[in-house]
Amino acid sequence: MQHTVRFVLDDKIVEIDFLKVPGLKPSTTVLNYLRSGPLHKGVKESCTEGDCGACTIVVAEPGNNGSLIYKALDSCLVFLPMIHGKQLITVENLALSGKNGNTLHPVQQMMIETNGTQCGYCTPGIVMSLFALFKNHIDPSREVIEDALTGNLCRCTGYEPILEAARKACTDGKDHFSGREKMIFSMLKEITTGRKTLEIQTEKQTYYKPFTLAEALRLRKKNPEAALISGSTDVALRQTKNREFLPLILDISAIDELKTFRESNDNYVFGAGLTLEQVKDITEKRIPSFHKILKIFGSLQIRNIATIGGNIGSASPIGDTLPVLFALGAKIKISSPTLKRIIGIEDFITGYRQTCLRNDELITEVIVPKTPSGVTFGSYKVSKRKDLDISTVTGAFRLKTLEGIVAEIVLAFGGMAAMTKRALKTEEYLEGKKWTRETIQEAMIILNREFDPLSDARAGAEFRKTVAANLLLKFYLETN
Ligand SMILES: Cc1cc2nc3c(=O)[nH]c(=O)nc-3n(C[C@H](O)[C@H](O)[C@H](O)COP(=O)(O)OP(=O)(O)OC[C@H]3O[C@@H](n4cnc5c(N)ncnc54)[C@H](O)[C@@H]3O)c2cc1C
Ligand code: FES
Ligand code: FES
Repeated sequence: MQHTVRFVLDDKIVEIDFLKVPGLKPSTTVLNYLRSGPLHKGVKESCTEGDCGACTIVVAEPGNNGSLIYKALDSCLVFLPMIHGKQLITVENLALSGKNGNTLHPVQQMMIETNGTQCGYCTPGIVMSLFALFKNHIDPSREVIEDALTGNLCRCTGYEPILEAARKACTDGKDHFSGREKMIFSMLKEITTGRKTLEIQTEKQTYYKPFTLAEALRLRKKNPEAALISGSTDVALRQTKNREFLPLILDISAIDELKTFRESNDNYVFGAGLTLEQVKDITEKRIPSFHKILKIFGSLQIRNIATIGGNIGSASPIGDTLPVLFALGAKIKISSPTLKRIIGIEDFITGYRQTCLRNDELITEVIVPKTPSGVTFGSYKVSKRKDLDISTVTGAFRLKTLEGIVAEIVLAFGGMAAMTKRALKTEEYLEGKKWTRETIQEAMIILNREFDPLSDARAGAEFRKTVAANLLLKFYLETN
């Protein structure tokens, strides 16, 4: 067992022994850690719930062939042990200091030249998102630039100058970080060699971070009451927003066995620890209806850390992957130290934020059958704004017709009940009918009566029912 957290900051290995640094606990966020010292106050706090991006940092982790992978994250949602074995890059690290003073990083220089800042509160976060974009894309398209900035709000400048800064700066990805990658890579390897489970125990809090699935399952069985975190984009809010204290945390974010993807003749198999950004990339060509929903899931900062297992595990009635997985007929592989079982996604979700997962089990894989020929999918998310918003209603549909007659139909909805639900009565009505506008018109009336959704801050019940019915119509129009 290892008791300290180690990462690279300012080109040095930093080691935190939580017993020796007063005021720090394992669940201290990277944001609060950085702001607690004098040297990294550029990072800003605003919403503390992943919505504004003022706290954006970049984390680099070892990739293939000695290279590093750079990811923008919201530091307000990241607990310190989650960056163990990684390089933490802050806005203070971007300029290159030399004998004649600092040379600004290209993304900083372009923000000045395009007048991309006014009051400046959002600017460090925006610069860090631009830096991650710079390291990952050469000559990015407008769509890629907008996606990189979706998680950063600016109340005063207006986004055009910032988009222009991105376009002008991201030309070759070469900067002073490029020359130091080998050095940082070997420092990170030094930290992570012989990875032993992190077990950090302070007077009031215990934090486990295992590196193998077997160890994670052992710890889960031994500590069934532990708050289980994968990307922590749901769980961290219990601390940052609800002010809840989490005495025992089991962090499964560093288990390589949960980050695999494989494809067989019949199925796609996603490791539960794959981030939603990774799943988004994998599904682009393979499962376009899934990819479409992931393109508007949270922001890049959120998708860079939130996992598919976490979205399923949270069992939220407005979890965006769930209706799609219902329509795709996905199965969930669950493991305990002694047993493995595979269960259909519809049987896995049992109620409002409830699943049939036992407290010694983990979701390990998500199995998505390949689409049989003749089957069509549609997926739609309706929210108050397109980007970085929780859905009001999500609909995901599956259709097979034979000579114009509905042979198979699945209509799965999020936001219409306490859990993701299929419109079984409407499905029953549609089966065996002609797939025509008249049939759909009738089905929309049945669908309107089938659910009794909540009215809340996002929408009234009537609005939700109308949207659900209109999504069915949209699907019909798109399949004709
Ligand atoms: C700003 C912001 C925007 C968001 N936008 C969206 C959105 O557009 N759509 C949407 O659906 N959600 C959204 N979310 C919610 C959240 O990001 C997702 O639910 C995310 O997928 C959770 O994944 P995670 O890995 O971070 O989960 P965590 O917070 O780590 O865990 C969530 C739950 O799943 C359980 N869990 C995690 N992994 C496993 C596993 N392997 N086995 C068993 N249980 C597990 C945990 O115990 C916990 O109960 C947003 C959240 C934020 C903060
Ligand atoms: S402070 Fe708003 S995203 Fe972190
Ligand atoms: S420059 Fe003021 S919030 Fe962006």
